[in-house]
Amino acid sequence: MLVQVRNVLTPEEVAQCRGILEGSPWVDGRVTAGEVAAKAKNNLQIPQDSAEARAAGDIVLKALGRNPLFNSAALPLRVLPPMFNRYDEGMYFAAHVDGAVRAIPGAGMRLRADVSTTLFLTDPADYDGGELVVEDSYGSHSVKLPAGDMVVYPTTSLHRVEPITRGSRWSSFFWTQSMVKDDGKRTLLYDLDHAIIETRKNLPDGSRAVVGLTNCYHNLLRRWAEL
Ligand code: NI
Repeated sequence: MLVQVRNVLTPEEVAQCRGILEGSPWVDGRVTAGEVAAKAKNNLQIPQDSAEARAAGDIVLKALGRNPLFNSAALPLRVLPPMFNRYDEGMYFAAHVDGAVRAIPGAGMRLRADVSTTLFLTDPADYDGGELVVEDSYGSHSVKLPAGDMVVYPTTSLHRVEPITRGSRWSSFFWTQSMVKDDGKRTLLYDLDHAIIETRKNLPDGSRAVVGLTNCYHNLLRRWAEL
């Protein structure tokens, strides 16, 4: 399931993030890629352990906490600290799959990457190319969103970033370990959650239909959640 989440960051928060990134050193993006993905990768990143990455990452994490759509789609157990990348003219990331298990920096813990997120930090009018293309069993999905919007998709998907032909594309990206690792089960819960929201618009909250559906949602989550 691929979900677009609008207005995750306010325009002020996008400007704040970009201001922090402008003052940060950029390094070769291959530092965080595995052996196979490194050969496909040509971009720049902010060092993961830098003060700038932490400051901008905190802005993103705060915004995620208040976003019901992200929480409904990802059912997050833990989120890896957000990272930041940049593709200048000629840069790209050819088709690859993200690693399944990642270390949480400084925590002595690992996280299973179930859900990938890209949060766009550049206005699409400011660059050409740079689409994120995600492949799933329904085909290829090309995504290029306004600054402050993000896309959430299963980490099991092959994906790529098309070459930049003009300008520079900045974004944040991060992985989430979900309480529900199976994408098919997460999709069912997401669909049910949204059907309940729609039902609640037409029926009072105490109605048997709303209570019954909410009961089903929580009992499915209880069966499937791993904490
Ligand atoms: Ni990737």
